[in-house]
Amino acid sequence: MGGIFAAISKSSENTVPIVIEGLRRLKYRGADNSGIAVLLDGRIEIFKEAGSIEAVSAKLGLENISSRIVLGHTRFATHGRPTVENAHPHTDCERRIAVVGDGSLSNYEDLRDKLLMEGHKITSRSDFEVVAHIFESLLNKEYQSSEFLKEIYSKMEGYFSFAVLEAEKQRIIATTNGPKLFYGLSDKYVLLSSSQYALHGFADQYGELSPGELIILSKDGPTIYTSEGLAKQVQSLPLQLDPILVEKGGYKHHMLREINEVPEALLRTLSSVQKRYLNLAGRLVTGADNIYIIANGTSLHAGMIASYYFSELAGISPIVTSAAEFPLYYLENVGPGTLVIAISQSGETGDVLSSLYEAKLRGATILGITNYVGSRLARLSNLYLPIAAGPEIAVPATKTFTSTLQVLYLVALSSSRQKGKIEESEQKARLEAIKKLAQSLDERLAFIDSEATKAAEKISLCRSGYVVSRGLTYPLALEGALKLKEASYFHAEGVEAGEFKHGPFVLVEQGFATIFIMPVEKVSAEATFPSIEMARQTGATVVVIGSENNQKLLELSQDGVTTIRAVETERHLAPISLAVPLQLLAYRLGEKLNRPIDTPRHLVKAVTQ
Ligand code: F6R
Repeated sequence: MGGIFAAISKSSENTVPIVIEGLRRLKYRGADNSGIAVLLDGRIEIFKEAGSIEAVSAKLGLENISSRIVLGHTRFATHGRPTVENAHPHTDCERRIAVVGDGSLSNYEDLRDKLLMEGHKITSRSDFEVVAHIFESLLNKEYQSSEFLKEIYSKMEGYFSFAVLEAEKQRIIATTNGPKLFYGLSDKYVLLSSSQYALHGFADQYGELSPGELIILSKDGPTIYTSEGLAKQVQSLPLQLDPILVEKGGYKHHMLREINEVPEALLRTLSSVQKRYLNLAGRLVTGADNIYIIANGTSLHAGMIASYYFSELAGISPIVTSAAEFPLYYLENVGPGTLVIAISQSGETGDVLSSLYEAKLRGATILGITNYVGSRLARLSNLYLPIAAGPEIAVPATKTFTSTLQVLYLVALSSSRQKGKIEESEQKARLEAIKKLAQSLDERLAFIDSEATKAAEKISLCRSGYVVSRGLTYPLALEGALKLKEASYFHAEGVEAGEFKHGPFVLVEQGFATIFIMPVEKVSAEATFPSIEMARQTGATVVVIGSENNQKLLELSQDGVTTIRAVETERHLAPISLAVPLQLLAYRLGEKLNRPIDTPRHLVKAVTQ
């Protein structure tokens, strides 16, 4: 994930300060690196460094630079660590163009190998550097032609948008196959931005580029071409935004924005995890004598769900444990044949890192899964896979949970394939199901939110509660209870449905909330119905979360029970789909109870000690 911001002055005005401010507003999209490309005497000059735009600006003295055409970028590292080489903008061999991008290229490694063989000078590990070199060979083509776009889209795979500053023609060309890109217009400027909110104060009108379209921005304004190469009338809307929402990309809290980013994060994750590293991960899993999955908090819950993936898909049963417990109870069986799968969103959690030192001392191999490729976890791992969900600012983890689940699912599928348990066609079909889930989630999120809001109203009248489920979705019950505590300070416990009547039921009465996550398997769901009925009989507040087409859920809803209908998907993806209503429920309850949702007391984003 990254943020693109560009400005062209219609006169000779300097646009560097505007781009710096635009990038500052996009910082929530990542600030591992920042940089700008400017035109000085008709030549492209690049100013880039590690760190946020403010830090980079101070370090490189950007306020002393003046240019009427500026292309800027703020980066969240997914390919290549946050070093100056990997910072955008990138250039071609002759520095005739500068490129910035958002998203990632899933065939990056193959493209890089090919370009190196052709003699291109590639100096970074950032996937968007290859875009600069691909463009190099296309420089004299008619950009607006459908052939040009076809060529671009046939070469590059993944989920990406990019913008190219062309020195000779003094213009910026941009396209997207999914990540949002907006153009902004005023009497003075022609602008481009990853978010319409960052345009506030600089543009009066704005519009959004559709996937597959190409935009050419010059001082005369924008021209847009469809994927068929046809010029399209530029349509724009008045830019009227609430300035208070500018810093959080249009949302009241980071947590709400991050939940709304879950569908997109799934697509970003899918295109960021490179096939060759996934194959390697699969080989580590299938070749290990014994496997531990270690993590804390939300990451631990993802690991617990992953144990079902590995067992059902690859016939492998890892031991899942808290990273805080691992060095105390499990080191005896750790040796050179051991694989430790360490999951940490931040990559800096103290318990995870100290467990890794112990495991490495005993010769274990480490497969790290982290959202921060510059983290200590990534550096300590023999192999790491990026979660690539984009930065998560709110303390309650949301989109990183769903994307972590996806990475673990991909590793389990790769292991399964290597053990010959599934065919390539099945592996592909399952990847397609992820894309479909992301799309359906995107379409349904507002509806799920409205149901979660109603459920939160009811729960806000309760003093305490349970989140109940079983099997694949039992760890989700633990995760739901954790989210409720963090985002709304509401006391909740995760309960295994089979255990409900063996004790926990004693607390259930009027004023107590019982939130059931309907298990995805028919038999398990049926085995849960009696507990739902028992809870209803007591007069407790009952909320049932399940897949939209679940017959029992429909019946319960017709019978007056509060339900939240999640997106229907295949069984192994259900924990991803069902996590979203739980996250929204916790968020809406926190909002209702006026809690400091993004920054709950006593908690920090990375528990490093
Ligand atoms: C959950 C939460 C914590 C973290 C835990 C592990 O919302 O914020 O429970 O999940 O501290 O953090 P990472 O994944 O960074 O190791």
